[in-house]
Amino acid sequence: MTNQDSVNLSGVYEKSEKIKISLEGKKLEKVKNQASENSEQFWSEQAENILWFKKWDKILDSNPPFYKWFVGGTLNASFNCLDRHINTDLKNKAAVIWESETYESRVLTYYQLYTSVNKFANGLKNLGVKKGDCVTIYLPMVPELMIAMLACARIGAIHIVVFSGFSAQALSDRINDSNSKVVITADGGLRRGKLIELKKVVDQVIPLCPSIKHVIVLKRASNNIKINSKDVWWHDVIETQPYCEPEAMESISPLYILYTSGTTGKPKGVVHSSGGYLTYLYATAKWVFNFTNKDIFFCTADIGWVTGHSYIVYAPLMHGVTQIMYEGTPDYPQPDRYWNIVEKHGATILYTTPTALRMYIKFGDRIPNNFDLSSLRLLGTVGEPINPEVWMWYFKVIGKENCPIVDTWWQTETGGIMISGCTGIDAVPMKPGSGSFSLPGINAVVVDESGNPVDRDKKGYLVITRPWPGMLTTLWNDKEKYQTTYWKKFDNNIYFTGDYALYDIDGYIWLLGRADDVLKISGHRLGTMELESAFVSHRAIAEAAVTSRPDEKKGDSIIAFLVKRTEFNTLSDQQLRIEITSHIRDSVGPIATPGEIYFVNKLPKTRSGKIMRRLLKSISSGSSTIGDLSTLEDGTSIEEVRQAYSELHEAIK
Ligand code: WTA
Repeated sequence: MTNQDSVNLSGVYEKSEKIKISLEGKKLEKVKNQASENSEQFWSEQAENILWFKKWDKILDSNPPFYKWFVGGTLNASFNCLDRHINTDLKNKAAVIWESETYESRVLTYYQLYTSVNKFANGLKNLGVKKGDCVTIYLPMVPELMIAMLACARIGAIHIVVFSGFSAQALSDRINDSNSKVVITADGGLRRGKLIELKKVVDQVIPLCPSIKHVIVLKRASNNIKINSKDVWWHDVIETQPYCEPEAMESISPLYILYTSGTTGKPKGVVHSSGGYLTYLYATAKWVFNFTNKDIFFCTADIGWVTGHSYIVYAPLMHGVTQIMYEGTPDYPQPDRYWNIVEKHGATILYTTPTALRMYIKFGDRIPNNFDLSSLRLLGTVGEPINPEVWMWYFKVIGKENCPIVDTWWQTETGGIMISGCTGIDAVPMKPGSGSFSLPGINAVVVDESGNPVDRDKKGYLVITRPWPGMLTTLWNDKEKYQTTYWKKFDNNIYFTGDYALYDIDGYIWLLGRADDVLKISGHRLGTMELESAFVSHRAIAEAAVTSRPDEKKGDSIIAFLVKRTEFNTLSDQQLRIEITSHIRDSVGPIATPGEIYFVNKLPKTRSGKIMRRLLKSISSGSSTIGDLSTLEDGTSIEEVRQAYSELHEAIK
């Protein structure tokens, strides 16, 4: 059995028996049965938990793969997150506790957040932003990012959040693809004590983005910036009336677009609806985290990624939970920030990534042991498989063997958690490294190349065989890609996740990594093709092939094989490596910094000209078995790659 063998599980089973919420998962089974008996009815019951201006006429309009949930219903996302609480006891409760990199805290109550959102929504309207317009948000992790998103939702504008660690190219691609009217940014952000000049990046892209009419600038770092004709300060924009009527949005209207990497060079604009998405988030957050309004939820994601959208903004706010929003990195200025924040604010749930945990493990147990972590009642992970050793460390050192761990599997496209333990329904013994089970209403199946279910304990492709309300509705401007990427590999109504998985003999699901060319670097999604085009945009590079190698800290580390243009053959490899690394950091962002760069004369390709990444991957992982070479275009090039690799590896050592 996969990961299980490497850890002695007996203790964990006993411990997890101890912390089970009730016995044997019977209740979970019952809810799952209800969901499968009449799935539409089941989801419509979940939809009753959110607030509708008008109820839907039809639960699901099925025109595979274009599914529409709660057709005819109208609602507003910001109303569901804010207005629903302000006439209750939660009015003056903390909605957000923000913690800066420099240990400064700021609290916004539900009422304060509500007022700020209303004012900013009016400000956007005054700038001419209307229902259905796109607004790009390029802000650091500050509460204004959340305010901007909710203000867009309030007036029916579609938000596109761009991770503030991305560079100019990524920003302009997203603005242009979505045709955004406004971009919201800050003078600068702070990361590891350094100033990130966001406004400067925006200034670079504005001449390339004709759709932008206004640039809203938040004063955050107080650095000197150039003021241009389209610029307007955030603090001037919010000089408006304190109430803005929320737009009644069709359930199927887009709430946001979030661009994510796929297997082609161009990021895909994943579109999430309003009614289906919010229904799914509300239900699944209750099942997985068992949110109550006593919770102080610390989700360590950046809002630039889907985890932040769903589990810092929409799900916790709908539930009236207090969330902690942290501006910085886990190890700056000290490698104790998460523990310090848990203790300082009494977090009850910590939801983080295996990458962050692996980093903390390296600094030893003494650091977390110095903090009082006893407020925690539940731990969660997301984004990549968690190795059982890391799971055990999280369970023992952080949770002190008192907190269940939910290993949550999902994707930008799925909107919310699809596979996880469900502490809000029932608990079953945990298996370190397994995602447990699919959530009620989610039919996750592992199939072979022909789409037939495989036996227990056999690896295959993970597919979802039934639509669910949180699903993406389409890809922005690209219906065809939506169909071909997700719905064509097997059958028109089977969703292909792009992941490998297996069910073990006890029926637990194990997630086994991507089956396509998507890389997970520190839990962030990057496409190999996207990276390759960034490499070849450097003047000295003719061809590029990118693969990854397991990395102790980052999960995966980027390895690039590059072919130089002949006129640059004389440049020293070392000099070029430095130049290219900085080019990638500038063009994609620091998260794409390559771990290793190798120069070769030729890349291994199939006869039809496709780069054989499988071969590159086995070479870079040091595997001696490469597999079938029959489709290799030119058998010598693989030797060349192998040789280049080993020579360089030697040199690096
Ligand atoms: C991977 C992040 C194993 C998976 C929410 C998926 C995971 C991709 C897990 C989506 C997990 C996410 N265990 N792998 N618990 N969670 N993944 O779109 O490969 O950034 O397809 O969404 O992350 O990444 P995305």
